[in-house]
Amino acid sequence: MKKILVTGGLGYIGSHTVVELQQAGFEVVIIDNLSNSSINVLEGITNITKTPPLFERLDLRNKNDLTDFFQQNKDIEGIIHFAASKAVGESVADPLLYYENNLNTLVYLLQECKLNGINNFIFSSSCTVYGEPDVLPITENAPVKVATSPYGNTKQISEEIITDTCAVHPKLQAISLRYFNPIGAHHTAEIGELPIGVPQNLVPFITQTAAGLRKELSVFGNDYPTPDGSCIRDYIHVVDLAKAHVVALQRILSEQNKSNFEMFNLGTGLGSSVLEVVKAFEKVTGLKLNYKIVDRRPGDVVSVYADTQKANKILGWKAEKTMEEALASAWKWEQKIRKI
Ligand code: NAD
Ligand code: UD1
Repeated sequence: MKKILVTGGLGYIGSHTVVELQQAGFEVVIIDNLSNSSINVLEGITNITKTPPLFERLDLRNKNDLTDFFQQNKDIEGIIHFAASKAVGESVADPLLYYENNLNTLVYLLQECKLNGINNFIFSSSCTVYGEPDVLPITENAPVKVATSPYGNTKQISEEIITDTCAVHPKLQAISLRYFNPIGAHHTAEIGELPIGVPQNLVPFITQTAAGLRKELSVFGNDYPTPDGSCIRDYIHVVDLAKAHVVALQRILSEQNKSNFEMFNLGTGLGSSVLEVVKAFEKVTGLKLNYKIVDRRPGDVVSVYADTQKANKILGWKAEKTMEEALASAWKWEQKIRKI
């Protein structure tokens, strides 16, 4: 059984990936500082897989603690690095927190890879690196645009840090996965998204509105150059996204990768507008969602969706679940946590 370190493994995408890794036969050790997650997620994971993952409550910014951890865990063969701060608005308000948490932790982990001979590394990147794309759908060859937020900048710089590191450490095999918009929850409703405070992202705002926690959804703009005037995104089921990590990890563990730093878009290839998401939610739940059109949100790009051919052909992975399935699972999760 290969042992894999999952940083941020109690978070939204990390927890779903831990489930898929365990179900694929990996032993998982999680590092999380619980800054944006709850210890109860461990129980949710265990309820699904019947195997409690190893867990270390540790802040990756504490270099000495991290070094001690690797001293005690000499058998780690790969790392999937999810841990990061991820709120765009917060990153504008407190850029140094974002540069410290998202960049220092990456550097420390790569240093430990080198020291401990760990050669397999998967990084959580984002479609935000493409900014407002010139061509749709977006391929991995699209230019990385000037970041519109410190958060986005940390993803760009992170990819540069990994590029430079791989250039001088040919044994290190890294893959950067550029996520489009992950939504939904595990079908068991044992794990899902747990936004702290008022959600900034569309789907948790929708489910909280339907649950009565929010009065109404604000749709940010209906005057964009899109068919219905609202912005278009590529919404991908978090379980599909999680499965891609297992495939990417297997690719580098079995040395099938073509270069020692590869990048893949993870999306469905389909663009959906905000109003289409609202309608789909109403259809799958049979509920009427309270919403109103308001001004555009500063910083939003008009339309973003992935060209997924590289991941389809080279990774042999394809998103299988529909947006409707994702929305139904998000609602099931919201109902469970709100005891509706
Ligand atoms: P999340 O906040 O749910 O999970 C991140 C986890 O990392 C949390 O459990 C948090 O407690 C932990 N963490 C943060 N800083 C830490 C530190 N210093 N030490 C230890 N643990 C720490 O976020 P998520 O949505 O699961 O995102 C995972 C990754 O994917 C992030 O790198 C994020 O930037 C990236 N990403 C997310 C999205 C998205 O829409 N959710 C989109 C693109 C990329
Ligand atoms: C945002 C971030 C992105 C990050 C991702 C996941 C920006 C510019 N981008 O993506 O870097 O990786 O979150 O954390 O912030 N919407 C509404 N009403 C709402 C919320 C959202 O209409 O209450 C609309 C938005 O205008 C957008 C779409 O829904 O068109 C999706 O928004 P959101 O879920 O916040 O994701 P992104 O903005 O695509």
